Amino acid sequence: MPAPLSSEEASARAEALKKEIARHDELYYVLDSPEIEDHEYDALLRELAAVEASFPELLTPDSPNMRVRGAPRGEFTKVTHASPMQSLDNALDPGELDAFFDRARRFLGENSDECWVCEPKMDGLAVSLVYSDGVFELGATRGDGQTGEDVTQNIRTIRSLPLCLKRNRSGRVEVRGEVCMAREDFAELNRMREESGLPVFANPRNAAAGSLRQLDHSVTASRKLRVYLYHVNDAVSLGIATQHGVLRWLEDEGLPTQGHDRLCRSREEIAEYLGEWDTKRFTNSINTDGVVVKLNDIALREKLGSTSHAPRWAIAFKYPPEEKRARILDIEISVGRTGALTPTAVMEPVQLSGTTVQRASLHNQDEIDRKDVRIGDTVWVHKAGEIIPEVLRVDLQSRPDASKPFKIPMICPECGTEAVRLPSEAAVRCPNKSCPAQLHEGILHFVSRDCMDINGVGDKLARQLIDTGLVKSPADLYSLSPEDLRGLDRMAEKSALKVTSAVSGSKERPFHAVLNALGIRNAGKKTARDIASYFRSMDALIHAEEDELANLDGIGPIVAASITAHFADEHNMDTINRLRAAGVNMGADSAGDERCASSPLTGKKMVFTGELPSMTRQEAEEIARDLGAKVAGSVSGKTDIVVAGDNPGSKYNKAINLGITIWTADEFLEHIKPFAPDRTNL
Ligand code: IVH
Repeated sequence: MPAPLSSEEASARAEALKKEIARHDELYYVLDSPEIEDHEYDALLRELAAVEASFPELLTPDSPNMRVRGAPRGEFTKVTHASPMQSLDNALDPGELDAFFDRARRFLGENSDECWVCEPKMDGLAVSLVYSDGVFELGATRGDGQTGEDVTQNIRTIRSLPLCLKRNRSGRVEVRGEVCMAREDFAELNRMREESGLPVFANPRNAAAGSLRQLDHSVTASRKLRVYLYHVNDAVSLGIATQHGVLRWLEDEGLPTQGHDRLCRSREEIAEYLGEWDTKRFTNSINTDGVVVKLNDIALREKLGSTSHAPRWAIAFKYPPEEKRARILDIEISVGRTGALTPTAVMEPVQLSGTTVQRASLHNQDEIDRKDVRIGDTVWVHKAGEIIPEVLRVDLQSRPDASKPFKIPMICPECGTEAVRLPSEAAVRCPNKSCPAQLHEGILHFVSRDCMDINGVGDKLARQLIDTGLVKSPADLYSLSPEDLRGLDRMAEKSALKVTSAVSGSKERPFHAVLNALGIRNAGKKTARDIASYFRSMDALIHAEEDELANLDGIGPIVAASITAHFADEHNMDTINRLRAAGVNMGADSAGDERCASSPLTGKKMVFTGELPSMTRQEAEEIARDLGAKVAGSVSGKTDIVVAGDNPGSKYNKAINLGITIWTADEFLEHIKPFAPDRTNL
């Protein structure tokens, strides 16, 4: 048993853990090359939380456990910026860019040989971040440039942002940059919102702004925001002389930058950069609507000064938005995994942002009505955030005389069931849980890589399995025999065996992947991981209360409600029970299900305080979790049992005041002995 930590040791350990966690955050979120598994990272966080629980003075603002804490706020407080957050003048064509350089030349003198830095212009939301003595202290939106909103708590949830600077540990440093959402995260967020009947965001910038300006920061935490810095206020006082130096300084402090900047010494070099980014912008994961050109030498910037709203030493070159006309040939209705009937415009092919586009989602009836899109119309299309094809508006002059407003048929095109529209939703849904289209989408999701990862079950096989009646639920995959498969199209002996062995192998998939495979509405891959690591077993999750779920990091009220609704549904429970019977991994304690079901700890909310004689607190907490308890860090009215070891802290007094059952360490061991004999003779 490790000896209890002295306060000096605890402080040193907490510092070391914070550093280690920050290093793994950088490896994972910035460098995209993690060194450790998720559960190892979670263990570091838990160890830090345990140290902080024993020594509450160590829970300082730079702790990763402070990323999501506290209750939602009523409103944002206003922040006055130390110096105005200016915007930039735009150049919309090469002529305007030339005029900008000509003017700069006039101010700088004909013979000056200034350098410029080119950076992609990110399409996000400008923010100012203040580090005080090296620790992140304040995050604010730009607002009107003079006064913004205090979004510190929300910014803290952005994992790629270090809570401490690497080197600078004294004074106040203000850095500025852009909060963005990557295209793939934007597309995934909108896909989930569409499935859930929620309005979709028009572009990544709106999604980033909507996610950052959330009063409940657990909602922000559930969105994948990123931040990239490009500016240091008062750089000269830090010994930085150039924009190039600013960017390297930021990187040396561990702050994320875009990393696509280039020093250019002539207009030709700048033109070359603009040309390169005219194509790169279509594949860059952050939506880029232009290039910012900045004077490199910070002292020289003074010579140019500013107009009332923008500096004269920088300009934003904006690429023209790509909009094309196309005729709508048809509006198709497809049925998604959750039964949402989604209308898609099928158009004449057009070239947009580097690809051929033929289809664009029209989302739902409200969107169709708002734009009044009809079959036969000629419409203007673009790619929202340069990624998702979208119908912008109808060219009314080209509308054929006989056209009629389009209404989504209130009947499922796949199974003929009458569709419904709930008053709170934008989506029309097929309510038939056995609808083959929903089943098809559900199976494809179930077998996908982030779920059960079953190789060999693709679109065609899934369709055949459903059409032949072999599969009526994902659980049926586990009773397929090679003989069942051999009768199907293009299924030889070998491939049939491959499929059944892939199905069988998937039983060992991690619990979070199984949860993701269930396709709980509004709960994606990240939520599945979060709830799996907290509840650790299907049983614990099934019995979770909605407000307990809603209180978890990164899970808001909507997701919590979806999760409880999922487990309240008989059809879903039937699938889960059949998966369990087939031997699919149901979480940490699946090996000891019976043990867990009958343990006195099952479903109990427990808190540990003080030192236990024969095991560390972490070990004790792990055993409790394995036996079905939910272990929390602090005592509240909802706590069922507090286990108090030697030298218990303030939690002990609180438990007494609240009249909560208190077990001594021995009593805890007595209770767990029959269920975990191998772990109590330590
Ligand atoms: S520099 C004083 N660099 O564009 C000028 N801005 O239109 C400070 N933006 O408010 C801005 N990427 O939100 C700069 N690489 C970049 C940028 C960038 C995006 C945004 C920023 C600014 C807006 C101005």
